[in-house]
Amino acid sequence: ATNRTFTMVKPDAVEAGNIGGILNMIEEAGFKIVAMKYVKLSAEIAGKFYEVHSERPFYGELCEYMSSGAIVAAILEKDNAVADFRKLIGATNPADAEEGTIRKKYATSISANAVHGSDSDENAAIEGSFFFSQFERF
Ligand code: CMP
Repeated sequence: ATNRTFTMVKPDAVEAGNIGGILNMIEEAGFKIVAMKYVKLSAEIAGKFYEVHSERPFYGELCEYMSSGAIVAAILEKDNAVADFRKLIGATNPADAEEGTIRKKYATSISANAVHGSDSDENAAIEGSFFFSQFERF
């Protein structure tokens, strides 16, 4: 079924000038961009977004990193969006990412890993509504 996932182009990829390359790979893979914005998070807002990871040892580093520069947030639509997008982005650690994935091409480390992708339909909906109001995700 056609459904949605949520993504962010992370600060490392924005800073390196890879927004266009990444959005191109996303569109080439058949995802339709249905909402998008360019923003810079505060550490506090990043902390709220990543609250599910608040007990993890890398939480502080993650929030600091995600608020270190601008990001692009977007909602994507496609058949089987969540699973197919996770395939397209590749493993969290770019050292494990397969050839042809976004992280293989653009990520530099486990935290500076170029893109985020929701891990479930439920989180896709939560994350999408964290960034976009009802009239921005019609
Ligand atoms: P993301 O998919 O955005 O969701 C959680 C993020 O935590 C993940 O991408 C990684 O960038 C980051 N992350 C996961 N494991 C580690 C780690 N061991 N050290 C630093 N960051 C991590």
